[in-house]
Amino acid sequence: MRASISLPGCVRRLLRCCVLISIGTAAAMQGAIARDTDTQYTDKRARIDYTLHCSGCHGMDGLGKPAAGIPVFTDQVGHFLRMPEGRAFLMQVPGLLGARLPDDRAAAVTTWMVRAFAGPSLPPDFVPYTAEEAKRYRESRPADVIGKRNALYRQLLEHGYAIQ
Ligand code: HEC
Repeated sequence: MRASISLPGCVRRLLRCCVLISIGTAAAMQGAIARDTDTQYTDKRARIDYTLHCSGCHGMDGLGKPAAGIPVFTDQVGHFLRMPEGRAFLMQVPGLLGARLPDDRAAAVTTWMVRAFAGPSLPPDFVPYTAEEAKRYRESRPADVIGKRNALYRQLLEHGYAIQ
């Protein structure tokens, strides 16, 4: 008669536990080394570009410094997107031009900024900026950007959208 190997219940439970832990760890590691999708990568890079090139003036909260002439983004920057000229204007500001980002990154950082701060002012049909737009808008920049903003500001106000 062969003696059957019988492990005490607690050892069996321990072994089962170890197996489950190693399966779990392997799955977690696979998740960690999985490459970001293109969209995730673009989004992370845009956040970094905002942090490096924009947040010094506009803040990580998008609140700017209105007293020092740096406008608020939070809950209002999306109103500009209600007009084609406003959409263009958001890419014609000196801060973005000065950052000298390539077209795809300029488009991504503007898209990130709008999504991060526009809040309820974001039109529901907003589509991300493209590299082609970045090139076109930056090349056709109005000489008087502040004058442009003031004109847009008045137009928006007429339609009931107040910008600080
Ligand atoms: C040195 C400070 C400074 C930096 C850096 C800066 N900005 Fe600005 N930004 C301003 C000032 C001042 C204004 C308002 C005057 C103007 O429109 O030029 C402004 C205006 C804007 C506006 C228009 C908002 C409105 O309500 O009129 C947008 C959009 C904008 N900036 C985006 C950016 C982005 C994106 C970056 C980074 C790539 C950036 N800015 C970097 C100072 C800065």
